[in-house]
Amino acid sequence: MKVLIFFAQIMKVKGVKEMKDQLNSILESFKSDIKDITDLQQVEDLRIKFLGKKGLLTDVMKGMGKLSKEERPEMGKFVNEVRGEIETGIEKMKDAAKEAVLELQLQTETIDVTIPAEEVEVGHKHPLNLVLDDIKDIFLGMGYKIAEGPEVETVYNNFDALNAPIDHPSRSMSDTFYIIDDMILRTQTSPVQVRTMKAQQPPIKVIAPGRCFRNDELDATHSPMFHQIEGLVIDKDITMADLKGTLDAFAKRIFGAQTKTKFRPHFFPFTEPSAEVDVSCFKCGGEGCRFCKGSGWIEILGCGMVHPNVLRECGIDPDVYSGFAFGMGLDRITMLKYEIDDIRYFFENDMRFIKQF
Ligand code: DAH
Repeated sequence: MKVLIFFAQIMKVKGVKEMKDQLNSILESFKSDIKDITDLQQVEDLRIKFLGKKGLLTDVMKGMGKLSKEERPEMGKFVNEVRGEIETGIEKMKDAAKEAVLELQLQTETIDVTIPAEEVEVGHKHPLNLVLDDIKDIFLGMGYKIAEGPEVETVYNNFDALNAPIDHPSRSMSDTFYIIDDMILRTQTSPVQVRTMKAQQPPIKVIAPGRCFRNDELDATHSPMFHQIEGLVIDKDITMADLKGTLDAFAKRIFGAQTKTKFRPHFFPFTEPSAEVDVSCFKCGGEGCRFCKGSGWIEILGCGMVHPNVLRECGIDPDVYSGFAFGMGLDRITMLKYEIDDIRYFFENDMRFIKQF
């Protein structure tokens, strides 16, 4: 029995010594390997070789299980020292390799400031936006705010609340894009009037620019998608004189100080009375030319005094408040202003066209 114990002790002693030798030789080979390192990848390979899950150190650690309880702490300490030394060596190498890479970059990547820069293509405002900006400026200057509404609109906002008779032809499928029974692509910006009045009590003074849609055949003067700018003013004692003064001032600002305006009676369901507004031809000054088809006048918008039915429907008392509204086609005004003879140019996005304005 005694002999057996003695033999076992010798074996263990041998175990510790062997492990220490093994660790020392690992450390030695690490120290020699590290001398050949030239880049970061090699540092990483070295880390995997020595410290990785299947690395040399892990291999030795597996032998720890064979040691006795008394031997393990001593061995553990030694393993940790070796591991620490390898880890420190690897960190140092990493830093050195990074620095070497940077140094190399600094040496090779010089900047030649004399090489011509790549040309940066600067965008150009679309003519519709140029004119819209002008129109916004004019109305903001008169104290208006900008209102907005969605392009997908309810039939109620686009027609019913605007006093459109139930059999009005514009409601038909052939004129209007229906999404579902009671949802459409708005045919005009006038529904923004309804939204604005339902959301706030007077005084109201807004313009609402936006896209509209009608089932029109595309040609030089029609597009199924076009732009309108709606205007709405509601307050106490607003009269037709306010409407005329406002639109006359607007026309003079956008087409020139010599411009005259003419209000022709017309019909719109949501205004009473209603009118269409013509401006004196800014090309011939009213003499009559090809531009105004010989009449001396050019039609630019529709307008009128907001119908009491519309005010009532939107929760505004027509006995207390009155107001005016107008709606103009942005595409048409832009075409007039820049003498563009085909609406399709606006939507083709050809930079050769857009950059002319
Ligand atoms: N919404 C009308 C259209 O698309 C234009 C219009 C006319 C708007 C008179 C108005 C208005 O606000 O009062 O033809």
